[in-house]
Amino acid sequence: MTKPMLRALAGEAVWPPPVWLMRQAGRYLPEYRAIRAKAGDFIALCTTPDLAIEVTMQPIRRYGMDAAILFSDILMLPWALGHGLRFAEGEGPLLPPLRDAAALAALDRERLVERISPILATVRGVRAELDRTMPGQTALIGFAGAPFTVACYMVEGHGSKEFGAVRGMAYRDPALFSALMDLLTETTIVYLAAQIEAGAEAVMLFDSWAGVLPPALFRAHVIEPARRITAALRERFPHVPVIGFPRLGGLSIAAYARATGVQGLGLDTTVDPVLASRLVPAPVALQGNLDPLALEAGGAAMRSATAEILAAMRGRPFVFNLGHGIVPPTPPEHVGELVELVRAA
Ligand code: CP3
Repeated sequence: MTKPMLRALAGEAVWPPPVWLMRQAGRYLPEYRAIRAKAGDFIALCTTPDLAIEVTMQPIRRYGMDAAILFSDILMLPWALGHGLRFAEGEGPLLPPLRDAAALAALDRERLVERISPILATVRGVRAELDRTMPGQTALIGFAGAPFTVACYMVEGHGSKEFGAVRGMAYRDPALFSALMDLLTETTIVYLAAQIEAGAEAVMLFDSWAGVLPPALFRAHVIEPARRITAALRERFPHVPVIGFPRLGGLSIAAYARATGVQGLGLDTTVDPVLASRLVPAPVALQGNLDPLALEAGGAAMRSATAEILAAMRGRPFVFNLGHGIVPPTPPEHVGELVELVRAA
């Protein structure tokens, strides 16, 4: 029996639709906070397979989601390339800003395979646990940051609203920026292929900052790397679907879906589901896009926003999700109610 999530990504209009939520493992869950305290540091949590397996499974045990997503972070790829990374309490990620050819040359591809080995051990462990406890039901999603979003953090050195340093580099030093993008594209293929070999049944590319780019740069640095990654993975693993998430991509999401060849397209909170369904026809599965704040609010606001999305997506391949990650103040019982609502569709 094929898992509902994988049937939807294969282009089938599964109903009720499969459901999982971005950041379903995280600080809104008391059991996550307990493991996080035990690990101490966030990077230690991502690189200790027993703990990472445990937090990946927590939302599956609580809610029986249709997909588990590997517990890791998009910034573990630069970490594995030897680029410094730390998570400062309350500040988010901090990295040494990459601004010149010397910093690019210092990235060490030779270390990649060895440094990602604990993450691959987590993938193998979660897959074994799912096969044992959720057979035929819950699919395992591997993931990576898309090259542009990873470059945003590497060049800027921290989070930002505008990512001016990275856009500045794309205009002023296109050769350096393209060399960084090529390196990230190639290593992302290696990283995702390794996750698939370890047991991931689908992979997702998070391009959280795609929306800061004008159309020409969006084509070059969002669409083109996603096309290359999808084509390389398809060639090696023809049955493993790729979900793209060009967040805040606006009108460019239709071109993204057509030109990249992805099997699934994540919709951010701002996208009108009726319009998206017209712009991106089957067999591409749409995934999204309840406002995480509607989930936090719960009650009638959550119910009506959910009903609107379900009505727009009925009859086409679709995976219910949020438009961005769960926010930490979300009451865990709201997540349970949401899953029930979707399953009653
Ligand atoms: O449950 C899941 O979704 C799987 C795990 C996952 C995490 N991050 C765990 C995490 C995934 C898929 C990500 C992706 C990620 N990480 C993205 C893309 C999606 C998005 O949200 O736009 C981005 C941009 C990052 C980078 C990142 N990691 C930031 C900006 C932060 C700090 C913000 C925050 O919420 O603290 C992180 C840390 C992080 N990654 C946490 C979690 C659960 C919080 C760490 C903690 O426990 O303190």
